[in-house]
Amino acid sequence: MSSRYWLGIDVGTGGTRALLVDEDGKLHAQAMAAHEEIRMERPLWAEQRPENWWAAAREAIGRVLAESGVRAAGIFGIGLSGQMHGLTMLDGAGEVIRPALIWCDQRSQAEVDRINRIAGEAAILEATANPVLTGFTLPKLIWVRDHEPASYARLRHVLLPKDYLRYQLTGGFASDVSDASGTAMFDVARRKWSQTMVAKMDLDPAWLPAVHESPEITGVVSRKAAGETGLAEGTPVVGGGGDQASSAVGNGIVAPGPVSCTLGTSGVVFSYLEKPNYDPRGRVHTFCHAVPGAWHVMGVTQGAGLSLQWFRTQMAPGASYNDLMREAASAPPGAQGLYWLPYLMGERTPHLDAAARGGWIGLTARHRRADLIRALIEGVCYSQRDCLDLVESLGGAVASVRVSGGGARSPFWRQTLANVLGRPVVSLETEEGSAYGAALLAMAGTGGFGGVAEVCALAIRTAGQVDPQPELAGLYADGHRKYQSLYPALRDFFHPSS
Ligand code: XUL
Repeated sequence: MSSRYWLGIDVGTGGTRALLVDEDGKLHAQAMAAHEEIRMERPLWAEQRPENWWAAAREAIGRVLAESGVRAAGIFGIGLSGQMHGLTMLDGAGEVIRPALIWCDQRSQAEVDRINRIAGEAAILEATANPVLTGFTLPKLIWVRDHEPASYARLRHVLLPKDYLRYQLTGGFASDVSDASGTAMFDVARRKWSQTMVAKMDLDPAWLPAVHESPEITGVVSRKAAGETGLAEGTPVVGGGGDQASSAVGNGIVAPGPVSCTLGTSGVVFSYLEKPNYDPRGRVHTFCHAVPGAWHVMGVTQGAGLSLQWFRTQMAPGASYNDLMREAASAPPGAQGLYWLPYLMGERTPHLDAAARGGWIGLTARHRRADLIRALIEGVCYSQRDCLDLVESLGGAVASVRVSGGGARSPFWRQTLANVLGRPVVSLETEEGSAYGAALLAMAGTGGFGGVAEVCALAIRTAGQVDPQPELAGLYADGHRKYQSLYPALRDFFHPSS
């Protein structure tokens, strides 16, 4: 039995997961503690309480320690991963000022427009390698400045979700380059905070945490946190990464070649880049990778797993995801001409449109609920195909796709993805992408195994492959074209006054 372990913690949207890997990189134990429901006080608002993330992390850590029997002193390092872009605001005493505006919060279009006017779109692209989007951290901060001046006046620290856990664990304020990339305040090409953006938007640079490469040690578990979690005081905590970069590490996307697709609440197609290379229209994100000195490009479907989760809550309460997948598989491919637009929280790739809205198009009286679910899965896959095509144009030819995330657990979803992407879809032994990647980053930073790529070579094993069904290639190519025609046809409906 291994005597050394590493802990990965991922602050997801639905819950926080903690897992332990051993010195072969094998998953040893894991636990997940659910979060409270996302607060959506108004359409397109999405908030969570950082205190709830910390409570969930304590519960998940406690359970993983208790269930594994691993002694805290046997944990050699901790890696953090988390939902990106969220705005966590702390005051001078380290208290949370207001609930965090999370990644899918879309309230800040007016602020995005103003940032573009003040800083200039071309200058922003030059400074950060990306356009400013409503989901990113900066426009959320400007929204709070505009609408809640009393909260803004108390602000002393701006943190991303996983970095709030780091603050609780170590008492320090720090982040990593991959997560900082999604703030619209980070110079992605130079891997440091953008003085241009900070100065143009009149922010105090002292509010921003120190930024590290992902495997670097950022601090150690404090005595207070050791008492609260059962971890050992002094355990090193490495930079970790945004959930997508961490997930990519967990999927072994650490060198040119393979591409990953993570079907979580959002759906992300991710490719490694040796040099920062960006889409001039900003339809995919170019961010720093969790591999030191590397970058990545990714396309994002806002409502991937979210589409199915919404369907289950609203239309099939009590049904399991397995039940829903079985039902979907009973409908014919193409869902009898029915299409799902997954724009429940607007859309990023390729439309960059916070005002886009979801829905089924093409309903007839013949359709059954099974067709609705099948169309929903197919629609998410079409959107991921749009992401793949753009990512491929920047990152190079894609021969196969490695899948992870909740959606990847379903054989039906994996097969549909292979059919729509027209590529083999490979699954890995460990599908806990983000938390697993975070643990591997901790191994890279504290285990003496070499860099991230060496740890991945040691740890990651493929488990299976699903190939596209050639007899359905024509149907899905045609379906993708029809799907692509729907957004332009509806654009004026989404934007009545433009
Ligand atoms: C990435 C993104 C999502 C969130 C939630 O840009 O918004 O991956 O991090 O998972």
